[in-house]
Amino acid sequence: MASPMLLLSATVVLGAVHLISGYSFNNCIEDPYSNGQSFKCIHRKEKNMSALINDLPPSAINLTVCINPLWHIPNKSFVHLPNLQHLRIDDNHLKIIDQYAFQNLHQLKSLNLSFNDISDLNPSLFKDLHNLTFLSLTKNKLKQLPEGIFSTVLNLDTLIMRQNFLTHFSGIAESVSHLMNLRILDLCFNSLTSLSHSNASLPKSLTTLYLCRNNLFTLGCEHSFLRFIQLLDLSYNSRLPTMAFQGVDLRHINYLRLRSTSVKVVEFLNISNVHAGHVDFSGTGLKNDTLLMELCKQLKKKVKEITYLRLSSNGIENLTYYTLSSCPKIKGTLDLSHNQLKKISLNFLNNQTNIKSFSAEHNHLTSLSSCKTQHYFPNLEELSYRYNRILSVGSHAFYCTRNIKMLKLNINTISFLHRNALKGLERLEMLRLDNNLLTDLFNNTFEDNFNLQILNLRNNRISVIFNGTFLNLRNLTTLDLGGNKITHFEQSGLNGLKSLSKFYLDGNNLKQIDTSLYRVFQDTLTVLDLQSNQIRFLTKDIGSPFMNLSKLSDLKLDGQRPHGLTILPRTLFRGLHSLKSLYLTNNNIIYLTPDAFDDLTDLHFLSLDNCCVGVTQLQPGVFKNLRNLRKLIVENMGIQNFTKEVFGNLTQLHTLQLNRNVMEQIQVDALESLPKLHYLDIRNIPLSCTCKNSMLQNWTIHNPNVQVVYLYNLPCPHDAKLKLYNFDTKVCYIDLGEYLFFSTSVVIFLFTVTPLLYVKLYWKMKYSYYVFRSWFSEQWRRLREEEENCKYDAFISYNSSDEQWVMDQLLPNLEGNGSSFKLCLHHRDFELGRDIVDNIVSAVYSSRKTICVVSRDFLRSEWCSLEIQLASYRLFDEHQDVLLLVFLEPITERQVSSYHRMRKVMLKKTYLQWPGSGCTDPTQAQALFWNQLRRAMRTGSRLETEENDKSKGCVTESKEHFETHTSDENYYLLP
Ligand SMILES: *[C@@H]1O[C@H](CO)[C@@H](O)[C@H](O)[C@H]1NC(C)=O
Ligand SMILES: *[C@@H]1O[C@H](CO)[C@@H](O)[C@H](O)[C@H]1NC(C)=O
Ligand SMILES: *[C@@H]1O[C@H](CO)[C@@H](O)[C@H](O)[C@H]1NC(C)=O
Repeated sequence: MASPMLLLSATVVLGAVHLISGYSFNNCIEDPYSNGQSFKCIHRKEKNMSALINDLPPSAINLTVCINPLWHIPNKSFVHLPNLQHLRIDDNHLKIIDQYAFQNLHQLKSLNLSFNDISDLNPSLFKDLHNLTFLSLTKNKLKQLPEGIFSTVLNLDTLIMRQNFLTHFSGIAESVSHLMNLRILDLCFNSLTSLSHSNASLPKSLTTLYLCRNNLFTLGCEHSFLRFIQLLDLSYNSRLPTMAFQGVDLRHINYLRLRSTSVKVVEFLNISNVHAGHVDFSGTGLKNDTLLMELCKQLKKKVKEITYLRLSSNGIENLTYYTLSSCPKIKGTLDLSHNQLKKISLNFLNNQTNIKSFSAEHNHLTSLSSCKTQHYFPNLEELSYRYNRILSVGSHAFYCTRNIKMLKLNINTISFLHRNALKGLERLEMLRLDNNLLTDLFNNTFEDNFNLQILNLRNNRISVIFNGTFLNLRNLTTLDLGGNKITHFEQSGLNGLKSLSKFYLDGNNLKQIDTSLYRVFQDTLTVLDLQSNQIRFLTKDIGSPFMNLSKLSDLKLDGQRPHGLTILPRTLFRGLHSLKSLYLTNNNIIYLTPDAFDDLTDLHFLSLDNCCVGVTQLQPGVFKNLRNLRKLIVENMGIQNFTKEVFGNLTQLHTLQLNRNVMEQIQVDALESLPKLHYLDIRNIPLSCTCKNSMLQNWTIHNPNVQVVYLYNLPCPHDAKLKLYNFDTKVCYIDLGEYLFFSTSVVIFLFTVTPLLYVKLYWKMKYSYYVFRSWFSEQWRRLREEEENCKYDAFISYNSSDEQWVMDQLLPNLEGNGSSFKLCLHHRDFELGRDIVDNIVSAVYSSRKTICVVSRDFLRSEWCSLEIQLASYRLFDEHQDVLLLVFLEPITERQVSSYHRMRKVMLKKTYLQWPGSGCTDPTQAQALFWNQLRRAMRTGSRLETEENDKSKGCVTESKEHFETHTSDENYYLLP
């Protein structure tokens, strides 16, 4: 009896285990913190789309599939990801996309198919993408678009088809003409020759049209075709002539690029209705004074003032006092970048005093000299001389532009910056001097720049910061001195930096962390980058240099040259209670003391990647206070043991990168002590595929919360064909302990269920036994007395306390009184000396009916229960209607509820209520009662319902007890 139950419960348990799926993806990584919404499947060697993404969950919203040898997207590839909103399949080798490839992506907003080999698109490919707003097909092999390709993507906002082989503009115009939300269309780098469009028009919404690097030799469109365009890029259509614009409405253009076309801009301005100030004159061949002056005159005819004058890439070699003198007023930007200016003096801007921004980037300037005596440009705010060949900047070089807020002198060869070069720049907020050859900063170099907020001196050759260099930079928030040769700061070298928040000193030659220096910005510093210096500690006991940096949140100390920090002093990080991230990678640290990180209670990110020498013994408790750590990188540290003692306190840890270590085993209890862990990288660890890791295997595939990166690819170290996730662990579970456990469980189980079974099934078993015995004797007797099958019409089962009623009422009414039924009464007809049970069984089986006279006493008697059980078994199991219930007194449903079998009979079959003396007319009711009983005995079938009505008055009481199961009409007979 017990074993089926056991099996059943075992199946339930196993079933439950199977429902929890392992948490890793064959070819994808879920972005940490994305909650199952963002996945990247990059750089896999998988050709098959389904193999790449079939194990992703439907919660995915963002999916990136890049740099794979993928050439085909079959139908219904994404039906299991109906919530995708952003899909990137760029940079693969896609050639074929089946018609229903994107079926079901009703939520998709952006689709990037760029950098593939697609030459054909099925006309219904985008059919389901109603919500698509962004589509990129950049760098494919499209020659044309099939008709109706965009017929359902009505929400499209941006369509990028650069770098294809498109030749016919009319087909494109046709395809997009109904896209009432399209704003941006990019068709650069194609082979279009004109904009002829055979009746199709562009949607009103389209304001940005890129047509650069095509083969346009004419526009060939209707007058109003480009009427709504605001940004039009026609650059690098070298054959496009001026006359192409004749009669084309460009009224709404805000920005027009004509670089490297054959357009003569002066003529063009003459014939076009474009706003002259909105044309970009870069790369239009305006290389000498004659041409520039001509342009200016033409411009002035059209407009009084302009916001931008863009003259880059024109080959301009020099500018004179007259060059721009006839131009309209420039209110905004003058751009002279990418020309060939060797010298500059702003005198050529003599009357342009409103100019706000001036750029001469990418020229051949070699020096900037004083402009103290020149015109003053009070409105100039931005000045850029990036990418020149400037060697020296003289005294007062920016005095005539002393209101500038931004000065870009980066990427030059400045080795001499006069100590007064920046004189007068009192409003300067940002100064870029990075990537030059500066060696010295004078103590008054920045004297006037007290509004400076960002100073970038990265990648110069500064070696010493002298006293007072930054003394006046009280508003400076960011100081970048990275990539210099700084060995030390003089005692008050950093004084004055009262607001400094971000300080970059990486890539210098600092040999120590000087406590005294950081005193000056103790309340302001948030970022300190000391990466790649020459800091090294020789003893464990130095002071605590960062002690007062109470606001510091980012500290980088990684990669000290040439041999690393080697020793990490115990007290190095004392006081850094606000530190959020700490980088210590590449440092050859010999020993990490267990209290090194004790003060870092707010740390969120710690990178120890490759921090240490050889095999690292991480001490128990080394991370004990890192209660807020979210991400820990301990890659390539030579860790041999991953234990709870070391990692157990990281209760907030979300991401753990353990890869490239040397442990053969990972303790599951250590992993289980990280309750918030979601992302675990254990690649490139020689985890052995032995019983040592059987628990790990089980944990990795059954843990629903932790993503184990590329679990299904992790090989066994000694046999790359075997995998960690499924090496055979059966053998690991056969041991004595398991056996004992198992057998004990079985014994306990049996002890638990046997009493239950005894109570529930006692009668069943007893009955089965008797049924079998009686069946046997029946068979035997049948052989003997075939003809005498049913000796009695009814066996009367009653309790002795009801004997009076049976004798006085039942017997005379059924045996006498003309009815002549043959009844079996146990006191009268049972065989003496025979087992009483045998007597009952044979009585039930040799009677056509069993009438149970039910009273409260009857219900209490055990033998009666047996009788009713037997009769009802005959009823249910042999489908013979044998049982008739006669209720002598009203009995509630509750009273019979423990006689489960009887209740079922009551609900199913005939029962009769004896009309006692409480009725209105007992005599008549009783006569009816006997009639019904006789009829039931004769037929065994249902009683007539019309007769029920007459006796209603007497039976209402018992009716109530069962009314939940019956209706008025079928009162006596319950279906
Ligand atoms: C999905 O991608 C979009 C667009 O790139 C981005 O704004 C969004 O934050 C991403 N969502 C998730 C859950 O990564
Ligand atoms: C997608 O479009 C349907 C109607 O086509 C709209 O009900 C649904 O809100 C849209 N979903 C998103 C994410 O925009
Ligand atoms: C300027 O360039 C144009 C076109 O190359 C040339 O015709 C003209 O002579 C040049 N003017 C001067 C002053 O060099």
